[in-house]
Amino acid sequence: MRMVDLIQKKRDGEQLTTEEINFIVESYTDGTIPDYQVSAWLMAVYFQDMTEKERADLTMAMVSSGDQIDLRAIEGIKVDKHSTGGVGDTTTLVLGPLVAAAGVPVAKMSGRGLGHTGGTIDKLESIAGFHVEISNEQFIELVNKNKIAVIGQSGNLTPADKKLYALRDVTATVNSIPLIASSIMSKKIAAGADAIVLDVKTGAGAFMKTLEDSRELAKAMVNIGNNVGRKTMAIISDMSQPLGFAIGNALEVKEAIDTLKGEGPEDLTELCLVLGSHMVYASGKADSLEDARQLLIKLMNNGEALDKFKLFIEAQGGDSSVVDQPERLPQAKYKIELPAKEDGWVAEIIADHVGTAAMWLGAGRATKDSQIDLAVGIMLNKKIGESVKAGESLATIYSNQEEIEQVKEELYRSILLSQEQVAPPILIHEEITE
Ligand code: URA
Ligand code: CA
Repeated sequence: MRMVDLIQKKRDGEQLTTEEINFIVESYTDGTIPDYQVSAWLMAVYFQDMTEKERADLTMAMVSSGDQIDLRAIEGIKVDKHSTGGVGDTTTLVLGPLVAAAGVPVAKMSGRGLGHTGGTIDKLESIAGFHVEISNEQFIELVNKNKIAVIGQSGNLTPADKKLYALRDVTATVNSIPLIASSIMSKKIAAGADAIVLDVKTGAGAFMKTLEDSRELAKAMVNIGNNVGRKTMAIISDMSQPLGFAIGNALEVKEAIDTLKGEGPEDLTELCLVLGSHMVYASGKADSLEDARQLLIKLMNNGEALDKFKLFIEAQGGDSSVVDQPERLPQAKYKIELPAKEDGWVAEIIADHVGTAAMWLGAGRATKDSQIDLAVGIMLNKKIGESVKAGESLATIYSNQEEIEQVKEELYRSILLSQEQVAPPILIHEEITE
């Protein structure tokens, strides 16, 4: 097989066979096809798209390029959740203990990553002693015993995706539905889930800014999952403003604790109930979505979700007393209010910019080697649609520096007021099952 022929075939809009896609992915991963040929092929895919079969083939070729996590030793149907990413998205911290309390095995592989705040592991590490450096055997044992454990990402998961993603980044081919969908799904499938619940974000703070694009991505991922034998569904949820109130690591842990008690922000709670219901239902732990939802509400109200969180923290070396005494989490030196400059209604909270402000405070990594300050971040005091009086606090800034003019300016540019009443955004736009 010659790469030049496969580039031409895709350029002319033809469908590549399974063998041809395997050839491209394998040869690129082992270095026998150069970047410039794969770049040309990616650009051809960008313009010509891929059929459903090609997308599934590309996904599985990337899965086969590295380690695959074998979760067969864990009893029950393993359901994983994936979010396409937003600002202050605390759902993973809530959903893990919540659905585990419902009996769903949660075998979570998580990362640190770049961004506005740390990843799930960074957030959890704001609990003293908590660590994810456990062996695969311990991981499996903990999930069987407690229904929940978190482990750091294996170094050799989907190396083909790593290499292709890096090449896409410098060849203007990131923004392609078949390439994004196969990239995300390859990682979920390699991580071993039987069923996958996707939270595709839409709006200003999301990867996909419009509902149409978000829907197309969601459908593409759901089709890939179901075509390769993993039950997959997606919801499309709003990211036109940050989710919940907290953006920051320890702040989000505190917010997750409140939510597990049934005392969290309304939007975060509702999203966790919707995603959680689908996870519980997919795992066969409830006969309908409505039963699943009622079960989750009960587990929040009777304290079992919170007990599960404590058990999970202790099992991985952490100090679970933070659950009852959140003041034991890392605390910032300064709490600085952001007073509204005029009366009005909150019309917009540009999530990206709020995230950037949190990163400037030190909540996230700008580069791979930056240190995260787990204590700092932002608590929104108002969300879209709420009325504000001049002088009332729009947000509280948790900082370890006293001088934060730049952060305040960025927040004033992000939280926009209107003189007219504004309706709050719709939280759940759609559910996509096939
Ligand atoms: N996230 C991924 O993991 N892959 C993409 O291609 C885009 C976003
Ligand atoms: Ca939040």
